[in-house]
Order: sequence, then structure tokens, then C-alpha cells
Amino acid sequence: MIILKSRREIDRMRSAGCIVAEVLDELQSLVCPGITTHELELFASARAHKLNAKCAFRGYNKYPSSLCCSPNNQVVHGLPNKDPLRSGDILSLDFGVFYDNFFGDAAITIPVGVISDDALKLISVTEQSLYAAIEMAIPGNRLGDISSAIQSFVECRGYSVVRDFVGHGIGKNLHEDPQIPNYGFSGKGILLKPGMVLAIEPMINEKSHEVKVLNDNWTVVTCDGGLSAHFEHTVAITENGPEILTRI
Ligand code: MF3
Ligand code: CO
Repeated sequence: MIILKSRREIDRMRSAGCIVAEVLDELQSLVCPGITTHELELFASARAHKLNAKCAFRGYNKYPSSLCCSPNNQVVHGLPNKDPLRSGDILSLDFGVFYDNFFGDAAITIPVGVISDDALKLISVTEQSLYAAIEMAIPGNRLGDISSAIQSFVECRGYSVVRDFVGHGIGKNLHEDPQIPNYGFSGKGILLKPGMVLAIEPMINEKSHEVKVLNDNWTVVTCDGGLSAHFEHTVAITENGPEILTRI
């Protein structure tokens, strides 16, 4: 069942989203060769606490951290650790908070130091695919218009779409209906309506779309060892079009 949000509720979700955006922005400026994802985790949870927000991921299905840190061939749900990041790495950071009874959820992929042109291109195409999808998040379109916007954008450029993980509705729960695959057919799926709030999150691989979960039961990696990038925004569908809530 899809829970529609009132204008007032979307205002409250904007506050949660703004906190997520702010923390991710600060994390981005901290990332450099030598820093560990454990340090990023400590920073993120301290900042959320200071802003009176609860970290959404810690304890969710027993996830042990506040931040997902997924370098290089890790797709999503990477666990923070004490290995220093190195120049040439790419790093996906996924963060969510619970504030004023609503969730906000967003992700970015960023370079560590100097990275290859191939890695930069993967990051840029993944981010652009998210914006292509957000443009389709308007009343009267269908869910498949969002999915197919991502798939066609990235496949035309030679990349592949992860199938095993999807975007989601969001509100008073971190995960609500509908599920939002990053592949599909335009014109298909449920009708998009004002008041829907969606966490759209393309996970894009350099090579094959195949992924597996490591023995820690969380970390998702590419099967072929290729790079993976991830971007996510929490987006409200309004009469005036899409509104990105995870923005400063
Ligand atoms: N953005 C991810 C999601 O929406 C992060 C969830 S991590 C978890 O599913 F630990 F909370 F599961
Ligand atoms: Co999400």
C-alpha cells in the first residue's frame, strides 16, 4: 500500500532530508587519502546527534552502523572499517536519518584523491541517471518511466543496472511501497500521484550487473570485481513536479 503524504508532511520530510544532505556534504569534504570509513561513521553519527536526528540505518535489520561505506567493487551496504582510503578509490556513502517522525535517505559516490577517467565517467553517468529518473517523477507518469529512464541512460553508455536491490517509497518508515527497480518499461507500472515520496537509487556497475553478498551478510560486491557507483535522493512528487527533499 502506498502512503501519500500531505503538503505539511512533505515539509517535515524536507527537514529530515536537509539533515541527510548536510551530513553527506560534510562527509564529502572530509574524504581524502588516508582517512578511514570508521572515522566517517563517527563523524556522521556525531553530526546527526548534534542536529537532533536519529541515524536511520543503525539497528535496521540489525545493520551495525549509521553509514554505509562502499568503496570500489562494493555496491551497497559496505561496513565502515579501519582501512585507510587510498588515492584512486571511489567511495559510495549512503546515509539516512529519522527526524520529526519521518525518514530521509540519500547516497553519493565520490572520488578519493585522483581517480581514473573510467571511474569518473561511471560516477558521472550514475549521477546523471538519477537526475534523468527524477525528471520523470511527475503526476500522470508511471513508475516504469522512472525505472526505464535509469536503465536506458546507463545501458546506452555501456554500463549495467543492478537488479537485486531497488529504490523504495519512504515516509514514517524507511522502506515503504512501491519498490522502484532501476530497470523496466516506460508506460508500465503504477500511476504516479502528488504526495508520493520516493527514494530513487540507481546502483550501476562498470561491467556485469551480477552482485553477491559477502560472508558478513551485508556487504554487496560485484561478482566480476568491476567498479560500482550509487546515488540516491528522497524525492516528493508534487503538482508542480518533482521536489528533491535531500538537498541543503
Ligand atoms: N539506502 C539504503 C536503503 O534504502 C540503505 C539501507 S542500509 C540498512 O535500503 F542498513 F539500513 F539496511
Ligand atoms: Co534507500
